[in-house]
Amino acid sequence: MSSSNPLRDPADRRLPRIAGPSGLVIFGVTGDLSRKKLMPAVYDLANRGLLPPGFSLVGFARREWEHEDFAAEVHDAVKEHARTPFREEVWQQLIQGMRFVQGTFDDDESFERLRSTIEELDKAQGTGGNFAFYLSVPPSAFPVVIKQLKKHGLADQDNGSWRRAVIEKPFGHDLKSAEELNSTVEEVFAPDQVFRIDHYLGKETVQNILALRFANQMFEPIWNRSFVDHVQITMAEDIGIGGRAGYYDGIGAARDVIQNHLLQLMALTAMEEPASFDADALAAEKTKVLGAVKLPQDLGKDTVRGQYAAGWQGGEKAIGYLQEDGIDPQSKTDTYAAIKVEVDNRRWAGVPFYLRTGKRLGRRVTEIAVVFQRAPHSPFDHTATEELGQNAIVIRVQPDEGITVRFGSKVPGTSMEIRDVSMDFAYGESFTESSPEAYERLILDVLLGDSNLFPRTEEVELSWRILDPIEQYWDTHGKPAQYPSGTWGPVEADEMLERDGRSWRRP
Ligand SMILES: NC(=O)c1ccc[n+]([C@@H]2O[C@H](COP(=O)([O-])OP(=O)(O)OC[C@H]3O[C@@H](n4cnc5c(N)ncnc54)[C@H](OP(=O)(O)O)[C@@H]3O)[C@@H](O)[C@H]2O)c1
Repeated sequence: MSSSNPLRDPADRRLPRIAGPSGLVIFGVTGDLSRKKLMPAVYDLANRGLLPPGFSLVGFARREWEHEDFAAEVHDAVKEHARTPFREEVWQQLIQGMRFVQGTFDDDESFERLRSTIEELDKAQGTGGNFAFYLSVPPSAFPVVIKQLKKHGLADQDNGSWRRAVIEKPFGHDLKSAEELNSTVEEVFAPDQVFRIDHYLGKETVQNILALRFANQMFEPIWNRSFVDHVQITMAEDIGIGGRAGYYDGIGAARDVIQNHLLQLMALTAMEEPASFDADALAAEKTKVLGAVKLPQDLGKDTVRGQYAAGWQGGEKAIGYLQEDGIDPQSKTDTYAAIKVEVDNRRWAGVPFYLRTGKRLGRRVTEIAVVFQRAPHSPFDHTATEELGQNAIVIRVQPDEGITVRFGSKVPGTSMEIRDVSMDFAYGESFTESSPEAYERLILDVLLGDSNLFPRTEEVELSWRILDPIEQYWDTHGKPAQYPSGTWGPVEADEMLERDGRSWRRP
């Protein structure tokens, strides 16, 4: 397995690696994710010269399409959503390897057709038997597709070829279902053949957490309980559930976002330096953090869930969650969730990590704020120590990618008045190249067999172990608190931090 080290090799900083002979099969190719993200990402990779000349793309879906209909669909998706400009010569090369297999997941004949399509591509395109199977399908279909791949010999790695499975989130809806899914997957694929997508890990800014911490000398000495007061990790959306009622209701914000994205961000923020940047070393450190997470004693006080009510969003009237199409008016699904956890180890003992996510909040923003303790003493006459602000390092994951350092500075004038100021690093200003889309990076990594950015079985199960007691508590205690659309969540969440003498950031 490849284990390149982008932090150490200056020649290897941004997607410089090129995939060898290979192909990608997308199950659920007519779906939303495939059209908006996967097909455009494949084109962008091809356009940047990162795919092999005979790269093949096989779509599998129910509708009665010919190869040409599929190619036309990919063409439209690329024109609409690709990040890089459309180039006819790249497109002409890409369609040589495009095939469509019509079928349903429970139909053996469809999978036999898929097998012969792959064999044909091996001959025509030189794919060498190397195929990744991307399961962009409803979670309930994961087991049947995995079993069909085994039954039809599609998971077999013959004559030095490789076969890999790419699985979208959600990976289970609690610990038990995640364990069941893991055992189904592991009956068919070895751990190094399985790539679980948490697309946040494909974002440049998320990988930059490691660069910030471990490629610099000035941050790590203060990155611990002696200096850090608390950490806030926020993923806020300004939109509601849109047309995704069927997926969202009964799942909710904590399962949809905290279990995967936020706990992964927390693990990267809190983990020790890995022995190297390879997949095993990285997973080992993240796993230790997730295993050391301690839940609050009083889940009623230190967790909050909410549901958006009617309100105003971006100058327009917005309806509440319970009035959305397809939502049960009695639904107790959380559209906002905030939890406080600790990482029970020597570095972090006593430092709360506050994680929150929600829909229809004030702004779309994802950030990690490491907030430092106040200066222990102030020699300045007019600024009492408790009036000084708290220093903070804020990693802005999206949309305005960068890092902000907040500290106190003297206000110009004759008195020694101190006020908080910010120092900013913005990706867009420091680098001329734009960041690749997360899915570009992750699909390329799958083709290269580089699993650094994919959560493993243990991480997924540990994350559910953290969330399960919270979900069980919520199931048996009342209802989510209502918050008006366009605000920063329920007042209960503000009170949760106020009790600790702290407050949420308003990004
Ligand atoms: N959309 C997102 O932004 C997003 C983000 C994160 C994760 N995900 C995850 O990614 C996966 C796909 O999401 P999506 O939004 O693209 O879903 P979607 O729009 O509902 O698409 C599902 C796809 O599966 C196909 N399908 C369903 N049942 C089938 C069957 N029995 N046989 C053959 N094909 C079948 C559908 O084909 P037909 O067209 O023939 O019905 C469609 O192509 C899900 O696991 C989702 O949770 C999505």
